[in-house]
Amino acid sequence: MEIYLDTANDEEVKFAARYGFLDGITTNPSIISREKEEFQQVIQRIDRTIDGKVWCQVTEENAETMYKQGLEMNQWAKNAVIKLPMNENGLEAAYRLRQEHVEVNMTLIYSLSQVVLAAKAGVTYISPYIGRMDDHVLDGQLFIRKAKEIIHACHSDTKIIGASIRSPQVVVELARDGYDAVTMAFPVYKKMFHSSLTVEGLEQFHNDWASYEHRSL
Ligand code: E4P
Repeated sequence: MEIYLDTANDEEVKFAARYGFLDGITTNPSIISREKEEFQQVIQRIDRTIDGKVWCQVTEENAETMYKQGLEMNQWAKNAVIKLPMNENGLEAAYRLRQEHVEVNMTLIYSLSQVVLAAKAGVTYISPYIGRMDDHVLDGQLFIRKAKEIIHACHSDTKIIGASIRSPQVVVELARDGYDAVTMAFPVYKKMFHSSLTVEGLEQFHNDWASYEHRSL
């Protein structure tokens, strides 16, 4: 399963870079708006820091301008994924970008009919917002199970990236169920490392080692 961090914060991106197995960084306009640099500089800084895909969302609103912006953004990072909103204009721009061999993601996926169209258009990734669905009692995990069935039935290569993840438990379930990718905010990623039993066990080892008479320094 591909794993991404959903952030543009320099410290968090640097932390992610320490773990070479991570697949990259996802961003969105809200995440970018927290930074003090120009949009392009943020993306280029992330691209210099990590070795992986950098996801960058268009801010234009009609198909032609989204397409042009997507083509330009594709130059900002070595392995860019261009995010487009799942609407009529976004899907048209995505289809045109795919024809130029640009990797594209349809974001803000909330309905199965959107999944059918995105799979048919051959987009690289779709982002169902699992956490936000759960916030509205829309059962995010049931949704992506059905989305996976649709993609399979349409013989599409479109990958599902579980987005808006709120807990390590959801990441574990997506990994177990064989999903393609997941993106999570930094606090969720940090939690994935920790177990109080690991801390307790390590403390025990440390104390026993300290009391060992013949230990060498
Ligand atoms: C994914 O592409 C989105 O940027 C992200 O996962 C949204 O998460 P949020 O609901 O925590 O803002």
